[in-house]
Amino acid sequence: MKIITIVGARPQFIKAAPVSKVLRREHEEILIHTGQHYDENMSKVFFDELNIPRPDYNLEVGSGSHGKQTGEMLIKLEEIYMKEKPDLVLVYGDTNSTLAGALCASKLLIPVVHVEAGLRSFNMNMPEEQNRILTDHLSKILFVPTETAITNLQKEGITKGVYNVGDVMYDAVLNFTEIAKEKSSILKDLDLEGKRYILTTIHRAENTNDINRLKNIIEALNESGKTVVLPLHPRTKKYVESYGLSFSKNIKLIEPVGYLEMLSLENGSEKIVTDSGGVQKEAFFMKKPCITMRDETEWVETVENGWNRIVGTDKAKILDCINNFLPEQKQKSIFGHGKAAENILEVLDNYGTK
Ligand code: UD1
Ligand code: UDP
Repeated sequence: MKIITIVGARPQFIKAAPVSKVLRREHEEILIHTGQHYDENMSKVFFDELNIPRPDYNLEVGSGSHGKQTGEMLIKLEEIYMKEKPDLVLVYGDTNSTLAGALCASKLLIPVVHVEAGLRSFNMNMPEEQNRILTDHLSKILFVPTETAITNLQKEGITKGVYNVGDVMYDAVLNFTEIAKEKSSILKDLDLEGKRYILTTIHRAENTNDINRLKNIIEALNESGKTVVLPLHPRTKKYVESYGLSFSKNIKLIEPVGYLEMLSLENGSEKIVTDSGGVQKEAFFMKKPCITMRDETEWVETVENGWNRIVGTDKAKILDCINNFLPEQKQKSIFGHGKAAENILEVLDNYGTK
């Protein structure tokens, strides 16, 4: 089959790495990068480190308001879809690139495949929640990572074409952890070898776009007195500067890092404090206590299993968890067995022969 894959934002490059490799054994893949993320350390580094095939097209839409960004993607994708005439369009996750890829295909009656379907935060104010729900309802094949995702879809009347294949990010972690140990020197470079530190990421719009939420988070990290490594997302950097917020000396502020560096930082950390979706799961895969600075999560199993605490942006709660949170339960297997890409290929092969 001829499959068009859409990527555009950092986590999508990481998700595509294991899937593209496996897909290309049996199918023709055309890779489209929307250009939603474009800085070298938000895009190119992942293609280089993870051996992701070079995109066949880069739409170079760049940053902008939701409507402008999504609209530009739609205009450019339509032209390519009509020229390439793919059998399927495959999209990942919940970004504006996901929605544009799916909507454009659906209007042209090209079947949509959604990887990481069925996740819900039940907070429609999140752009990601809008993107997920719309994409799921436009999709013909829905690859879900967890049992909860199946239930979420059932509640919305989606029962056909749903397959629990496990989580592609678990494949990525298993594929690249050893390579990261060999190749990444970040712990040495940051003088963190054998040291205790907290790893933090912040980029969720609901946290960056609200001065009080971002201020609480930064004050908690500053007041923790712990060494905190913070690879700063460009969105967050922009808001920190515009609000005039500052970090104290215990915060090691660094540029966004490549995936191998990130895996090394996660592996070496004592705890992870984040508002990222992917990083919550990676904390779980690496058996690190996770403190999530959101009011809810899609990854509810990590919380139910006792390895993730939802603290919002309450300074006292963040500090309490940084100092005292230690998971007591043994981990359950939630995200499959690291064979999601192979499982996806198997389903698509059968789809192709129907
Ligand atoms: C996007 C996704 C979010 C995902 C995140 C992963 C949407 C609505 N949001 O959020 O779901 O979790 O990616 O990281 O699709 N910027 C740069 N350089 C870049 C990219 C962005 O400077 O290479 C800055 C720009 O100022 C831009 C801002 O970051 O306006 C936000 O970028 P955008 O892609 O719109 O959203 P993210 O916050 O990255
Ligand atoms: N990540 C990375 N470098 C960084 C921060 C994150 O490689 O500086 C990786 C992280 O390991 C995970 C993915 O990016 O695999 C998560 O992406 P992000 O937090 O941007 O988005 P989300 O998962 O919240 O959509």
